[in-house]
Formats: sequence, structure tokens, C-alpha cells
Amino acid sequence: MRDTWNTRTAFILASIGSAIGLGNIWRFPFVCYENGGGAFLIAYAIVLFLVGIPLLMLEFGIGQRAHQAGPGAFRQFHLKFEWFGWIATGVAFVIVIYYAIVMSWAVNYTYQSFTLGWGENPKDYFYQTLLGLSSGISETGKFQWSVFWGLLVSWICVIACIWKGTKTVSKVIYFTVTVPWLLLVVFVIRGITLPGAAKGLLFYLKPEMKMLLNFNLWLQAISQVCFSLSVGFAVMVAYGSFLKKDADIVQNAMIIGVADALTAFVGGLAVFGALGHKAFVEGKAITEIAKGGPGLAFVTYPEIINNLPFAPLFGFLFFIMLLLLAIDSAFSIVEAVTTAIHDKTGWSHKQSNLIVATIAFLLGIPLCFGSGLFILDTYDHFMMHIGLPMVVLLECIIVGYYFGAGKMREYLNVHSIHKANKWWDYRIKLILPGAILVMFIKEIADRFKGAYSGYWGTDVLYGWRIIILIIFISFVMTKISQNKENTEL
Ligand code: PHE
Repeated sequence: MRDTWNTRTAFILASIGSAIGLGNIWRFPFVCYENGGGAFLIAYAIVLFLVGIPLLMLEFGIGQRAHQAGPGAFRQFHLKFEWFGWIATGVAFVIVIYYAIVMSWAVNYTYQSFTLGWGENPKDYFYQTLLGLSSGISETGKFQWSVFWGLLVSWICVIACIWKGTKTVSKVIYFTVTVPWLLLVVFVIRGITLPGAAKGLLFYLKPEMKMLLNFNLWLQAISQVCFSLSVGFAVMVAYGSFLKKDADIVQNAMIIGVADALTAFVGGLAVFGALGHKAFVEGKAITEIAKGGPGLAFVTYPEIINNLPFAPLFGFLFFIMLLLLAIDSAFSIVEAVTTAIHDKTGWSHKQSNLIVATIAFLLGIPLCFGSGLFILDTYDHFMMHIGLPMVVLLECIIVGYYFGAGKMREYLNVHSIHKANKWWDYRIKLILPGAILVMFIKEIADRFKGAYSGYWGTDVLYGWRIIILIIFISFVMTKISQNKENTEL
């Protein structure tokens, strides 16, 4: 018999755990900062309610209806669609390869925090000591043993968390969701009470309304909402597949979506308060302080921590928080892949977990070289801008048109207290695919105008080739014969 969540709380926490991750603490504040602060918050909220949460309902519905992860769930619509489920799973798998690398950095920083080992100049520590950054993607650089050990530790933790499927996950998530939230509260209080914090907060919260006319802001909001909610990767389909038949999908999706957005918002308060303080201490404008992506969490934040009283303690708590936030996102992806393989082959959960984690770990090893950051960046760009829109678009077409949005909505509403109304159909059939299509076309056009990293070899080797590989492997997986238990349609 298929595993189910121990309790409703376990399901909600596990989904929140998947949603809340590195995306909330460094990606969100930075994207928000680049797109006009408050204006982005408004766009984010609109996108969240307009399409993010409806898509989350859809993925839970697909999984619960089929009691199978992505590929099996799409197979139930039509045999031919199984292929598509594997593509979604493949995109998630590539994400976890580099997500674990970011976790490895956090492991290293946690270790260094006891002695503030990143020193006065965290930029040098991060780029030179830890990453041994090479001159570009074509120069492999040296093998960085610390990144490798961090990667190994991260994978061991991930495997330990999902060892026995939903039964262990149901227990672990009480810890991995609540503890980082408590720590986040500590960092918000610390962040907003620092001298000069107001400057950062004003920057974060004051909407620049004219930015709302910027087309790019809306595209950024869509990809951020999808990444943050973990939708468009078949992960929530797999989590939905462990739901009992009478679960209230509409309400669950609302709770999870709002909790995730709230965490991003609160995370922003902590980060921007601290950035305001840094700008104040250095007498610089806030625009000269904040850097996006890895720079924010691994360079700017440690610098701020250095100047706090009890710096090692804050350093330790900050990186443990990042790790705990990241770990349940990482294992949600592994679970999604594992469950898909388990459904297909009938291999035991443990076996599949070990195989998936080992392969992801091995594929992460090339990212332990000096050129790792460049590879990571290219993977991330291609997965977020080509893989994700491809999956969401097809998902909306299959459910919206082939299966029928109205039929799916009726299914979602059966056990839900609050019902999704007719608008849900339009969102899935028109608004979401329309927006995603525009995003997709713009990205493809941009890529053909110029290579992402300014060097076509990189795009082909790490970007396009991975996309083609995912499509190819999906084909192969579809051809493997189905485990007997799951063949009924
Ligand atoms: N939602 C996670 C975060 O915000 C990342 C993630 C993406 C998890 C895709 C699962 C699937 O960090």
C-alpha cells in the first residue's frame, strides 16, 4: 500500500519545508531589490494569488488523484504524457545537483563560524579560499576539497532525513521547519534594531509604482513565485501523491502559499535591515552594498555578522538556519525523483533513495572545481528560464485542455471547504500559459541573440545539452516497462 502522510500537519509542514528554502532568504530579497522594492512586493502578491497558488492546487490535485509521482500521474491522463512527467522530474533533479553545492558552502560557513574563519574579508574567503574560482568556465581550476566534503555531509544529511520515506520525513520536518523560523525571528529582530536599519527597510518597502509598468518585473515575479513554491518541478505532484483521498487541497494550498510568501517577506526584513546598517556604518548608499545571489548570503552577510556582538554565535545560527531551510527543499526533490522511480520500477524506497542521491552527489563533483560557480550559474539559468516554463506550459495545456480545467476543479473541490471557482479555469487555461509563453519566447530570443555567459561553448555544453539530455532520458524512462502494480489506468 502506498505511504501516506502521518497527519495533515505533517503534509503541510513538509510542503512548506519544500517551498521555503534558499529561494526565500537570498533570492527573494535580491530580486525584490533589483525590481523596485515595494513594487516587486505588489507584483509578487498578485502573481502568487493569481497563478502561483492555483498552480499549487493543480499539482496537489494531479498527485492525489493518481497516487503517483510526476510521471505516473501524467501517465494517467494518457500513456504518452508519462514522458512529460519525467521531464519535470529531470528539471528538479538538475536543480538538486547544484542546490546541494550551495548547501555545501553553508556547511563550510557553519564550520568556520566558530572561529569566524572567513576573516575580515569574506569576499576573498568565499571566492578564493573556498571556491578557488577560476577565470571562467573554460578553465577547470583546482579541485576544492572543502566543497567536496561539504557536499558529502549535505548528502548524508539529506539521505538520513528521507531514509524511510514519508514516515521519517513526517518526523524530521517538525524540526527543519520550525527551528529555522524561530531563528529567522531572531535575525529579523537583530536586523531591524541595528543602527541605520531604517534606511534599508525604506528601500525594501517603499514601492516605486512606475516599476510596475516594467515587463521584466512581472516575468521575474512569475519565476520567483514558481521557484519559491516548488511548483513546475513535479515535486508538489509527488507530495500530493501521499495525500489521503479526503484531503482539503484548496485550503492546504492557500496555507502553504501564504506561509511561503510570508517567510520571504520576513526574510527580506532581516536582510534589508542588516544591509541598511552596513550602508550606515560605511557611509555608502544602499545600492552600493547589496549584491545578489551568492554574494548576499556568503559575502555581505558574514561581513555584517563580523561586526555584531557575539559574532560567532550569530554566524553559526545564520548558517545553520540556511542549512535547515535548504535541507527540506533538497529532500523534497530527491523524494520526487525517488517516488517516480519507485512507482515505475517497484524498487524499494530505500534503494531508490540511495541510487538517486548517489547519482546526484556524483554529478555534483564537477562543480567542486574552481569553475563550479560558473557551471552552477548556467545550470540555474537554463533550468529556471527554459526548463521551468516548458514544464508549466505543458502542465497547463494537458490539464487545462486535454483533461479539462473544469473537471480538475470539480475534483479539487470535492473535499475542500473553500471551493475554487470558475476563475481557476481561466487562470490555468489562459493567464498562466499566456504569461509563461511570453516568458519562454523572450528567453529563447535572448539566448539566440547572445550566449547566456557570453560564450556559446558554455551554453551548448552546460545549458542546451542538459535540456536535450533531460528530454532524451525522459524518453528512455518512458520506454522502460512499467511496474505491474501501477499499470492500471
Ligand atoms: N522552493 C525552494 C526554495 O525556495 C527550491 C525548490 C525548487 C525546491 C524546486 C523544490 C523544487 O529554495
